[in-house]
Amino acid sequence: MTVHFIGAGPGAPDLITVRGQDLVRRCPVCLYAGSLVPREIIAQCPPNARIVDTAPLDLDAITAEFVAADQAGHDVARLHSGDLSVWSAMGEQIRRLEAHRIAYTVTPGVPSFAAAAAALGRELTLPEVAQTVVLTRTSGRASAMPPREKLDAYAATGATLAIHLSVHVLDKVVGTLRPHYGDDCAVAVVVRASWPEEQIIRGTLATIAADVAAAGIDRTALILVGPALAATEFRDSALYDAGYDRRYRRAAQDDVARD
Ligand SMILES: C[S@@+](CC[C@H](N)C(=O)[O-])C[C@H]1O[C@@H](n2cnc3c(N)ncnc32)[C@H](O)[C@@H]1O
Repeated sequence: MTVHFIGAGPGAPDLITVRGQDLVRRCPVCLYAGSLVPREIIAQCPPNARIVDTAPLDLDAITAEFVAADQAGHDVARLHSGDLSVWSAMGEQIRRLEAHRIAYTVTPGVPSFAAAAAALGRELTLPEVAQTVVLTRTSGRASAMPPREKLDAYAATGATLAIHLSVHVLDKVVGTLRPHYGDDCAVAVVVRASWPEEQIIRGTLATIAADVAAAGIDRTALILVGPALAATEFRDSALYDAGYDRRYRRAAQDDVARD
């Protein structure tokens, strides 16, 4: 028996991986994390599968589901939105599984920041403009940020920021970012990227808060900020430069391939 953690992707049902879909189709038990996992994915569970929405459950109750499936010899598909490496609560579940000596695997998913960038049609890293993407959030009621993980410090780098779980405090976020990026810096708020109801609000640090408030958005949105979102005058990358020495082109391609 194995618990298979599966990143369900950002919302569009065809953005789950082939491996993840195969697991959902064959596991007799499916635990899924609430409304951000699309119903079309859950609908692919086998007939008579045990299907549980874990949104109202606490960790003990979720662990009890794992233990019961283990005793019955049933594999479990455990679905979380986006990818599992960020804000999935997989860490604490793995700790419980290890305590119960239950085997698990992890199948990655398309993270919401990638779906949001795709919705915008933008690359978040551009030569000499931005070469770093910071995936971060602000403090919530239930989870404080570690003391050294300050939005202000990330903003000071000028990197592209993908700020999760924070659209409800957009005013505060904008106040922190303005001194670093300037009023004219491009910002996009992408709501439910890849869902049918996806919404994109583009603006600058001077305009975005009013526009998002007017649209009544307060959840399931990403704030993307940084010069890469609007830059047009960036230089071409070396990768496809006709004048670039073959030897170095191979090195550059290797860099991309390694990534
Ligand atoms: C609990 S975190 C889950 C993150 C997820 N594991 C991932 O890989 O993106 C939920 C937050 O992710 C962001 N998010 C998740 N899905 C999204 C989507 N489809 N569009 C925009 N933001 C999304 C929002 O900031 C939301 O508040």
